[in-house]
Amino acid sequence: MVRTVSNSLACALLAVHGALAAGITVDVEDADSIKAAAALVAEDLMSYYNGNESGNTPGILPEATTAGGDYYWWTGGLLWGSMLDFRGHTGETKYDSLISQGLQWQVGQNNDYLPANWSAQLGNDDQAIWALSALDADESEFTEPPSADPQWLDLAINVFGEQASDARRVDDGDCKGALRWMIFTFSNGYDYVNSASNIGFFNLAAQLAWVTKNETYADAASDTYDLLKDIGFVTDKFQVYDGAHVDECSDINKVQFSYTAALLLQGSAYMYNHTNGATEWKDRIDRLVDAITDTFFPDGVAFEAACEKASNCNTDMLFYKGILHRGLGSTMQMAPYTADKILPVLKTSAKAAVAQCTGGDNGRLCGYHWSSAKNDGTSGAGQQLSVLSALVSILPQQAVAASSGSGSSGNGTTTTGGSGSQNTTDSGASNTDVPGSPGAKLSTSLGALMGALVLGGLFLA
Ligand SMILES: *[C@@H]1O[C@H](CO)[C@@H](O)[C@H](O)[C@H]1NC(C)=O
Ligand SMILES: *[C@@H]1O[C@H](CO)[C@@H](O)[C@H](O)[C@H]1NC(C)=O
Ligand SMILES: *[C@@H]1O[C@H](CO)[C@@H](O)[C@H](O)[C@H]1NC(C)=O
Ligand SMILES: *[C@@H]1O[C@H](CO)[C@@H](O)[C@H](O)[C@H]1NC(C)=O
Ligand SMILES: *[C@@H]1O[C@H](CO)[C@@H](O)[C@H](O)[C@H]1NC(C)=O
Ligand SMILES: *[C@@H]1O[C@H](CO)[C@@H](O)[C@H](O)[C@H]1NC(C)=O
Repeated sequence: MVRTVSNSLACALLAVHGALAAGITVDVEDADSIKAAAALVAEDLMSYYNGNESGNTPGILPEATTAGGDYYWWTGGLLWGSMLDFRGHTGETKYDSLISQGLQWQVGQNNDYLPANWSAQLGNDDQAIWALSALDADESEFTEPPSADPQWLDLAINVFGEQASDARRVDDGDCKGALRWMIFTFSNGYDYVNSASNIGFFNLAAQLAWVTKNETYADAASDTYDLLKDIGFVTDKFQVYDGAHVDECSDINKVQFSYTAALLLQGSAYMYNHTNGATEWKDRIDRLVDAITDTFFPDGVAFEAACEKASNCNTDMLFYKGILHRGLGSTMQMAPYTADKILPVLKTSAKAAVAQCTGGDNGRLCGYHWSSAKNDGTSGAGQQLSVLSALVSILPQQAVAASSGSGSSGNGTTTTGGSGSQNTTDSGASNTDVPGSPGAKLSTSLGALMGALVLGGLFLA
């Protein structure tokens, strides 16, 4: 974007006086103010989505082969998880049918988030991001797909099963047992082992353990954590490195990205909660929180260390701060004691994030550099999604009315009433030990839990 001198002067004045005509105002101590700001950022985020227009593919942001887009498939999965999180913290249900349609359209022929259209670019990390969003739908009791189709939890379990299998893993050498990055032999990157794929699997396993109370998942999470340490992708100082090539796995690429560290932290927090506060997981959480705030929040504002300084973040990397903020927000829920340390940082970061949303024709699009309090002239779905998640992560969870409509597959179960009232054969404890069967659900009432958080004023008191 080319700016005239008078334009930048106007922006500078706005930055000094707070948003006047352009931009978005937010008081990070006030939930209503945060929600109002988040609603605008979400609306602008959704303006990049056109999968619901005729002739376009539902579920994904415009991809490279479509005019005007350069978003990879995984970012669609992240979009729906982030919108579900927005829904769960604000009660906004107007995007329900888009979320529902998006999450269902991309399940693929085998209900495992591996649609044939996207084979060439499919990594285990990409598949995990979609599975985690299906789990977000399950955990927030979002209306299930039609009962003849696999339910949200089933989809996540299908992905877990594939990624747990030997076929996806390295069979020899220093990385023995680890997940490869790419899934198919013909893809570029099949010979790379990245931390993101293994941490994605770890996070999926941890959340499945928490949801189902089935120890198979807890064991898989523990084993994967150990493997990450053994290979050296997670260091003694709790730095999380990117990965290594299969044939030289001790030769580690030490670049660090915020989202992998955040997904490791979030999974650890689910394990902490699942184990009722095991010291082992508490120690990991404590060390990871320190490492993450040091590395990715210098001055209390999110900073994608590997690419932001040189302004060479690619389209994928522009989404990472969203995962970073959500991972920390989720950690505060699973391990409430961490809020003392995490919440102040998330607030300063969210404030800075919003302060630079003064771009675009509407005067409120967000850029990517948050520390400078000045819009950087870039815009896109990654920028919007990251700021949205920054706002959402400082709001408490709240009860949300049942979602309506199930999108692509038509006529799902729709009911009205409070959270958790959807009729999804949610008959409680007797179902929880049968993951894989349609309708197997979380027995603890997440709705009650959310209500308690709101009443307790945990995050904003
Ligand atoms: C697609 O969704 C957007 C909301 O993000 C909405 O404004 C638009 O009207 C929808 N288009 C169609 C064809 O439904
Ligand atoms: C696959 O591509 C076809 C043709 O473009 C499209 O109609 C379909 O919706 C796509 N499916 C997925 C899951 O992306
Ligand atoms: C697990 O999470 C719930 C919900 O936030 C919380 O009430 C509980 O204290 C957590 N457990 C531990 C051990 O912190
Ligand atoms: C949904 O299903 C119900 C019961 O099968 C039927 O009465 C209703 O017409 C359907 N609605 C739509 C929009 O298809
Ligand atoms: C939920 O569905 C089950 C099975 O179809 C049915 O027996 C039950 O009456 C339904 N409950 C409500 C509240 O609609
Ligand atoms: C636990 O999960 C595993 C992996 O999905 C499954 O094979 C096993 O049957 C489950 N156990 C129970 C008791 O449901």
